Amino acid sequence: MAENKATNITWHEGHVTRDARQSLLSQQGATLWFTGLSGSGKSTTAFTLEHALVQLGRLAYVLDGDNIRMGLNKGLGFTAADRAENIRRIGEVAKLFADCGVIAMTSFISPYLEDRNSCRKLHEDAGLPFIEIHMATPIETCEQRDPKGLYKKARAGQLKGFTGIDDPYEAPTAAELTLDVTSLSPQEVTAQLIDYLAGRGILKK
Ligand code: ADX
Repeated sequence: MAENKATNITWHEGHVTRDARQSLLSQQGATLWFTGLSGSGKSTTAFTLEHALVQLGRLAYVLDGDNIRMGLNKGLGFTAADRAENIRRIGEVAKLFADCGVIAMTSFISPYLEDRNSCRKLHEDAGLPFIEIHMATPIETCEQRDPKGLYKKARAGQLKGFTGIDDPYEAPTAAELTLDVTSLSPQEVTAQLIDYLAGRGILKK
């Protein structure tokens, strides 16, 4: 975990409460943390859910791994240290969104248990729901789908350190939800997730 380099800094508390922001939005802020192999359906599910929630009048926003790596995290690669920093930053950003009252969805492989648990702790310490969703789609399915052709490259030795092939993926041990989308449509998964969010009271107010 990164240490503070800056000294002589003081937390400045604002005048608007989280509750006031949440009331404006008529929802509870939360982070839905999608984790799983490349091609496991994280982004497809997150973007379908985002669309459905917005159609229901809820403010939701996807922070997507590939997209964020083109902007905020463009300086980071795929070493263990860079992946850890990628996840640390996105945990912080998701927490800010959730604190705003937004239903934040993160779609990152996030292969390391310790990094994901740090993001969970960050949220829990701030009293914000952190819902870990393990996209447990088997690697055979991910590889067969291979939407970006990356498994093919990795198998051919043209892409080194690819998660699931020659780089580790540590599956969650206590995810709130575990989904295998092999035989489910994004719409079916989205319906399940909306039921779950409603049951958790995230869509109340
Ligand atoms: S993470 O491991 O740091 O969480 P992240 O989700 O941001 O990864 O990025 C993963 C995406 O980057 C994959 O979906 C894939 O498109 C691309 N990618 C490029 N190189 C790799 C690699 N070596 N391992 C995994 N994904 C890679």
